[in-house]
Amino acid sequence: MSVTDPDARLGPVMCVVGARPNFMKMAPILRALAAHRPAMAMLLVHTGQHYDKDMSDKLFEDLRLPRPDINLEVGSASHAVQTAEVMRRFEPLLDAHRPSCVVVVGDVNSTLACTLVAVKKGVPVAHVEAGLRSYDRAMPEEINRILTDQVADRLYTTERSAQDNLAREGITADRVCFAGNVMIDSVVFGRTHARDPAQTLQACGVASGLLKHASGYGVVTLHRPSNVDHPETLRALLETLGEVASRLPLVFALHPRTRGNIEKFGCTTLIDPTRMVLLPPQGYLEMLGLMAGATVVLTDSGGLQEETTALGVPCLTLRENTERPITVEQGTNILVGRDRAAILQAVDDIIAGRGKRGRMPELWDGHAAQRIAADLWQWLSARANQTPRI
Ligand code: UD1
Repeated sequence: MSVTDPDARLGPVMCVVGARPNFMKMAPILRALAAHRPAMAMLLVHTGQHYDKDMSDKLFEDLRLPRPDINLEVGSASHAVQTAEVMRRFEPLLDAHRPSCVVVVGDVNSTLACTLVAVKKGVPVAHVEAGLRSYDRAMPEEINRILTDQVADRLYTTERSAQDNLAREGITADRVCFAGNVMIDSVVFGRTHARDPAQTLQACGVASGLLKHASGYGVVTLHRPSNVDHPETLRALLETLGEVASRLPLVFALHPRTRGNIEKFGCTTLIDPTRMVLLPPQGYLEMLGLMAGATVVLTDSGGLQEETTALGVPCLTLRENTERPITVEQGTNILVGRDRAAILQAVDDIIAGRGKRGRMPELWDGHAAQRIAADLWQWLSARANQTPRI
């Protein structure tokens, strides 16, 4: 990506994305960096952790992300192999492009892999969405978050509790900047273009009668290994969702991991297609439209917990914990775990109009990326004055 007159003291800002939840975070950052004056040169690197059209290209289009300058095409593998492969392929880029810093977002394997490579080569790293903690080390993302934050140089947080988490891990406040939530920048950007739910169903070849004749519908997403990788757990969750669907029709956007496991574990018969519509992974604008029109969203996604709070739609999180407590304290989110009775009670309350009403958290205002760009420039300029580029 070329810019007019970038600051000659600084190498390009190398922005990294890898998996689906990274794209909505990076899109507003790239726009804010492009609009920043003085200009900063930028490079967009896609690790290729997610590669299907549905999981990657479609989101690039919806979010108006530029084509990546470099795609490392790592693909799927075990955590160790995927992380190692990103590291191996990312390292030469730092020698070739000599970036002033690497910007990583979120908590996926690509986030940690590129952070490790950069810091070991003395390239500073900025981590956007730092300090979130579920305190559940069985989640691969929790390991990625802790390790990334420990070694990254500049940490941008989405909520005030994140700084307390970082302080508990010995990270001092001078490395941290409370910038707000870039995910919400994308909601603000995308909301006016969100796709009509009936059109989304039609485009997927599903008769939209299900939504037309019902007085509401729920949206479901599930992809956490803890929910979908064990046959008994997945079966029990699908049974509970079947009971929810008998009260309120459901639209279930299936992650490839979940679709694969439903088939592998022989669970397809648990889904009543007259009450529960299965869709492939959805684009950003389709998902935004589906969520905005929903009575309730049932999910184990971190991003959806935040997006539903921003949209004011009740969210039931099918996990025991969340790294995004502000969505529970101030937003529309309730942690229901996998408890059948709790899920059904919460759904009944929402259908009866007793759903949780939240408010918008501080600095979830659509301008987080601008604050990040402004801070990043100041921080990089101060570093460049101390250690000029040779
Ligand atoms: C990853 C992230 C998770 C994030 C999620 C969003 C890590 C540790 N996990 O989990 O934090 O919430 O993305 O989707 O980084 N697959 C495809 N096509 C693709 C990508 C994946 O079919 O484009 C299938 C493959 O079978 C793959 C499986 O999905 O093995 C899981 O993909 P992977 O990237 O390993 O993890 P996610 O579960 O997507």
